[in-house]
Amino acid sequence: MASLLPLLASSSTTVSVTPTSFASFRRPLFLNKSQTSSRLVVLPCKAKHRDHNNPGSNDQDAATSFREGKFDRRDVLFGLGAGGLYGAGAAGFDLNRFALADPIPAPDLSKCGPTTEDKTGLDCCPPKSDIIHKFKLPASPPEVLRIRLAAQNAAKDPEYVAKYREAIKRMKGLPNDDPRNFWNQANVHCAYCEGSHHYTMGGNLKEIQVHSSWLFYPFHRWYLYFYERILADLIQDPTFALPFWNWDAPEGMYMPAIFEDDSVLNPLYDAKRNTRHRVPGTVLDLNYKKNGTDDNTRDDDTIIRENLFTMNKQMLSISSTDWCLFFGDPYRPGCSPCAGNIEHKPHNTVHNWTGTDRKLPPKTGEDMGVFYSAGRDPIFFAHHANVDRMWYLWKKNFKGQDITYTDWLDSAFLFYDEKQRLVHVTVRDSLDTALLGYDYESVDIPWKDHKYKPTPRFPANKTKPQFSFAELCTKFPDTLDSTISVEVARPEEVRNRSDAEKAKQEEVLVIRGIEFPATVPVKFDVYVNDDADSPSGPDKSEFAGSFVHVSHRHDHIIKTKLRLGITQLLRDLGAAKEDSVVVTLVPRNGEGKITIGGFSIELSSCECA
Ligand code: C2O
Repeated sequence: MASLLPLLASSSTTVSVTPTSFASFRRPLFLNKSQTSSRLVVLPCKAKHRDHNNPGSNDQDAATSFREGKFDRRDVLFGLGAGGLYGAGAAGFDLNRFALADPIPAPDLSKCGPTTEDKTGLDCCPPKSDIIHKFKLPASPPEVLRIRLAAQNAAKDPEYVAKYREAIKRMKGLPNDDPRNFWNQANVHCAYCEGSHHYTMGGNLKEIQVHSSWLFYPFHRWYLYFYERILADLIQDPTFALPFWNWDAPEGMYMPAIFEDDSVLNPLYDAKRNTRHRVPGTVLDLNYKKNGTDDNTRDDDTIIRENLFTMNKQMLSISSTDWCLFFGDPYRPGCSPCAGNIEHKPHNTVHNWTGTDRKLPPKTGEDMGVFYSAGRDPIFFAHHANVDRMWYLWKKNFKGQDITYTDWLDSAFLFYDEKQRLVHVTVRDSLDTALLGYDYESVDIPWKDHKYKPTPRFPANKTKPQFSFAELCTKFPDTLDSTISVEVARPEEVRNRSDAEKAKQEEVLVIRGIEFPATVPVKFDVYVNDDADSPSGPDKSEFAGSFVHVSHRHDHIIKTKLRLGITQLLRDLGAAKEDSVVVTLVPRNGEGKITIGGFSIELSSCECA
């Protein structure tokens, strides 16, 4: 990987300027030298790789050429012309095209095998089975629902805690070839995201990836559904439910005690967690900046407050009611999908915060901080119960609506159930939690209050940068080890809209062509019209969102984008009429070597381009 940087850097000029203040946005690019621990390789004019996340791609070559720095300058220039600086615009779905897309079929178990890109032969395939049962959704909810309690409340009930521990203990004690066995259950996650599972589409064998697209919520809902039923069955208690890690409320912003008490006898304990973060009383930071290195000196109250602002922004402002900002993009051949905003943060952030310090051997962030091992930590299931609860709340309390495209609804997965039967499930059958037989304990949702709505740091600003994205393009490819700012135009059809039109269709900032090796835990924050030298925090409107990646073990190139809703943000900033905004990216970890393909502002279309 080391060879990438010099190669890119040698083909371009080095841009170096001194720090600036907000009032002097008069340069193409701001390099903030205080950010030297981080490194971004920016290639705004689109390099061409085959694409791992893309359901149709072959990424081994791409990984190699990325590491070797083989970027074709013609692709770069072509990308600028055809690609969508300001462009790609705009409104309107091509409904026919959507209707024609095929759903992703369940994995073909006969094609499951060791991960090709992993030299150690990582093999997460489940035990084989000849019979596949079709899941049958009941017509009405069962009489007694399983109630998932907030982990901090569940901890107060010794009987519950004892049951949960006993169930996990029994799961760990099952024979190796039993699909319900704890390690086989952990491997379910690994198989669906580290290259073991494949499906056939259009005659081609393709690898499945359940993160960073619209498969994220339904896959994990089903995974927990079966996991929970297996635990319940092992202790013969049909009412048993997983707890949820209530990280969206102050009472839950800690590593939950039930997973931490008693490192010797507690089967919920996992030695592979961040040792600093497991110290009782350590507040979980939803904006955790560095993977493995804490760099914040904020006091606990500030972190808790910022977490609540972050929840408000992630759930209510940048995700709006637009389904792809919430769920992520379609997972379709020809698309490079992207994650929804909750998947980035808090989901990915909490993974990275929980896993071991990446500075310590084996430097991979196990268990929670790398996907292949995440399911080995029982805390994973409490974390995902709360992620699942966000989907549940979004629909129940915030008018969110499920996607209606059949290629989402008919996408399928396979899981083993509590009777060791292999079961075929679809997204369609996952939508109603009551029919699945569970509900969430009703607890306070503090971030929904207006009190935690981010406010502008600057009054409507009149200063503007002089340089456009096109000018930035002539500077790159280049290696950056610092913050960058760029002016991004707002097309006429985005700007000149009535309030009613704005309420119907979200304006989005798209950072596209984001490419990096999957083994690296990339993170950067995005600000709009902020001071590039000292960007504000989560309680400010200027903080538009974050890109957060959880590293994979198998080595390939991720190609994706970040899409942030900015209608509300621009209104708050008094910038709704401006014909451009200044976008600042702040790299937030020490390992992120990435390229950025371009920026645009457009009407949200949930397109997969
Ligand atoms: Cu499948 Cu939290 O990841």
